[in-house]
Formats: sequence, C-alpha cells, structure tokens
Amino acid sequence: MKLDMEKLIVFLKSNGFIFQGSEIYGGLANSWDYGPLGSELKKNIKDTWWNYFVRNNELNVGLDSSILLNNGVWKASGHLKNFSDPLIDCKECKTRMRADKIIEEFTKEIITDPSDENLERIIKEKAIPCPICKKQNFTSIRKFMLMYKTNQGVIENENSIVYLRPETAQGIFINFKNIQRSTRKKLPFGVGQIGKSFRNEITPGNFIFRTREFEQMELEFFFSKDDKQDWFEYWLQEVNNFLKNKMLFKQENYILREHSKDELAHYAKRTVDIEYKFPFGVGELWGIAHRADFDLKSHMAESKQDLSYLNPQTNQKEIPYVIEPSVGVERLFLATICNAYDEEKVGEDMRTILKLPFALASYKVAVLPLQKQQAEQAKQIFDEIKEELNATFDLAGQIGKRYRRQDAIGTPFCITVDFDSINDQCVTIRERDTMKQERVLISEIINYIIKNKK
Ligand code: GAP
Repeated sequence: MKLDMEKLIVFLKSNGFIFQGSEIYGGLANSWDYGPLGSELKKNIKDTWWNYFVRNNELNVGLDSSILLNNGVWKASGHLKNFSDPLIDCKECKTRMRADKIIEEFTKEIITDPSDENLERIIKEKAIPCPICKKQNFTSIRKFMLMYKTNQGVIENENSIVYLRPETAQGIFINFKNIQRSTRKKLPFGVGQIGKSFRNEITPGNFIFRTREFEQMELEFFFSKDDKQDWFEYWLQEVNNFLKNKMLFKQENYILREHSKDELAHYAKRTVDIEYKFPFGVGELWGIAHRADFDLKSHMAESKQDLSYLNPQTNQKEIPYVIEPSVGVERLFLATICNAYDEEKVGEDMRTILKLPFALASYKVAVLPLQKQQAEQAKQIFDEIKEELNATFDLAGQIGKRYRRQDAIGTPFCITVDFDSINDQCVTIRERDTMKQERVLISEIINYIIKNKK
C-alpha cells in the first residue's frame, strides 16, 4: 500500500510515537521527541540490534564511550579536515543549501566526483535552478563544518574547544587496545556501540530521516589482513539476515547499492549501502564499509601509542583491517514503521495495522475487560502479566474499537475478560494479524503468548 509522509507523521503523533521537539515554544527545527509508544519501540529496536550483533554473536563485545573526545581523535580521523558539506547560497532568495543535494534532486543521478569544481561545473552546465525561487544565481561553493563545537571548562577560548562526536565509531577505535587487552580477545573480533551522534546538517529533513541529533548503532569488526574469510560479505549477509528475520523487512522494500570508486569515503576500500524505499524516495538506511587499517593507523600516528595487535601464531605485530556496519536508530525506526504499516478492509470497515514483530511492539499485550463488571478481574490479570510482558489496560469504549486501537499501534495480542471468565477461569486471546481468537486458561496466558509470538 502507498504511504504518504504527511499521513504517517499525523499517525505517529496522534498515537504517541513521535512529537515535534519543543512544540509549546513553536518547535526547534528538525528536533523530535519520542512519546510513550515511540520510546518503547526505539528501545526495542536498540535491544534487538544489541542482542543480535553484540550479545548473541560470540565474536563481538560491547562498548559505551564518551560523546566528548580529545581533539586529537578528530584530527586523526580526518573529521577536522574533511567533515564538511559543500554549501551554496541562492543570491536571489538567500536560501542556503547543499550543492550536491540540489544537483542530485535535479538530475536524479548520484554524484561520483564531489569536488567543489565538479559541482560548480554541473550546476552551470545543466543550468540547475534554485529549488525554492527557480532562479539561477548562486554564490560559489564554501565548505561548511558539520561538527558541533562547544567549550569545555570555565574559559571559552580556542584552547577549550571540544566537539560533539559526529559518529560513535571513533570511540571504538581509540579503545581497541583497552578492549583487546581486557577481554584477551584474539582476532577476528568486533566491538558494538549504540549512542548519540551530532551533525550540524545544512539540509536536515524528511522527518526523522536526517536530523542533527541522532543515535547510531555501529559495529567495528577487526580482522587480520591474512584472514581468508570474506568478512565484508559475512557482515553484509548478517545485516540482511537481521533485517529479514528480526525486523521482518519485506525484501522488496530495500535494495543494496555498491559505491563506485569515486564515491568512496576517504577511509573506505569498499562500501555497500542498504537503501530503503521510504515514502519520500529511496534513501540510505545502513552502510557497510571496509575501512581497512585507516583508523588504527591514523590514531597510532597521532597519539604516538602502539595500537598494533600481536598475532600469537606468527608472533608478529599487525594493524587489523576493519569492516563497519553502521545504522542510525531513527532511520531504522522510520523504515520499521513504513515496513509494518498497513491498512486492511475488514467487512465494511478499514483497519490500520502495524505488523511489528513481537520483540519490537511497544506493548506485547492489551488486557481488555468486556464490560465494567470484569474490570477488577481484568486488572488482576494485567498486574500478573505486566511483570513478564509490557502490557496495557484499556477499559474505554466498544470492544471492536479497542481492538482497532491496539491493531493500529501494533500490539500483537489482546486479552478479553468476559462474563464467563470468572466461572471458567479462561480469557479470549485475539491475535493482531489474523484476528484469530482462542479461549485460553488464565494460568496459561504467558505460555500461550510465548508459543504463538512472531
Ligand atoms: N561511522 C560511519 C558513519 O557514521 P555515515 O554513513 O555517515 O557513516 C552511518 O552514517 C549511518 O548513520 C547512516 O547509514 C544513517 O543510518 C545514520 N545517519 C547518518 N547521518 C544521519 C543523520 N543526520 N540523521 C539520522 N541518521 C543519520
């Protein structure tokens, strides 16, 4: 079914998934707050990622590093020099925008040579107009630094400048030696991290797709250059397995795109993006990059510390290679909602349904007394279940409407307590996707749900 962004944003707001940031003050551009249902879904996405890539993969361990890092980190990583966007102004309407983006939007082609000279040449040759006022009168391109600057300590001067991290990855590289020593891990092994990153994007937008404050889930997987296994293909496959089996993404909703040589980032040997077909167009969801030994080598040079790995087999020191699968939590959130959202005809009615996997659903069950008379018994059942499963209790309105409400927010099971429940100690459990109903003993509710969850 075709989903449009405006409808989706209204749906997410009215159901308590996502609100505009600072709304009562007129908002703060491009900031979003995750409401009661959104914060649960976001946490479940992060837990699902963490369980798959860190806890349940014996090759990997986890990390939680700082947002503020020594400036040497950003010098070594190349961010201080390279982490900027090509900024251009329209001299007529004064709109400030990204030169590469206006070209891509106009030509519908990927830019392979992002140098300022090439971008200026394309704008001139193709007579690309300003997307706002449609005139052709631009300034030349200037570099705009994407890292947020702040000051550490009481004195604000050049020496107290620190940056908010624009990626979580560097926290992993600078801790490579600490992690390897303390865990006594041998190559190959990976380190996963979930955390906030900040980028002062020139053109944020498309709702939560590109924001200035966001969270990343990154894995840096270290392996020996002599290793014969193709770890790039391994992690590409693992990301695909995760999307298919854990997030229940439909294959037709995303594509793989290999970066051309000219498009590769300064640190990358190979990159494949998993792109999702969002309602506003196809956009990058997950990047899988071969970073070779760029980061560890650069940090060794800058910090003057030995970050090499002593191979116990050869007794030789080596700098490992790295494969990095990296995804933004909010982008995965948006893709998850788009993938799960559906509208179905039921008799004469339509129902909205979020077909979320059980592990992701904000509420796992809703306990619904058929009428007020069953409220007390239903409340008792709710209290017992909520110890095990995140549950909600809904007493208000006709039962059919309450089912629809739970379908729309993705609750996989509704438990209805009715007139007979007090006598037969049974409830009716209704499954969200099939709407199948079964009579189940109250003492068997948890077992039933665990057996039937998807
Ligand atoms: N460490 C590598 C790295 O940060 P990236 O392609 O710049 O690479 C990785 O970012 C992922 O982080 C992207 O695929 C996307 O999912 C997410 N991401 C990047 N910038 C973002 C932004 N401004 N808003 C939301 N998510 C973003």
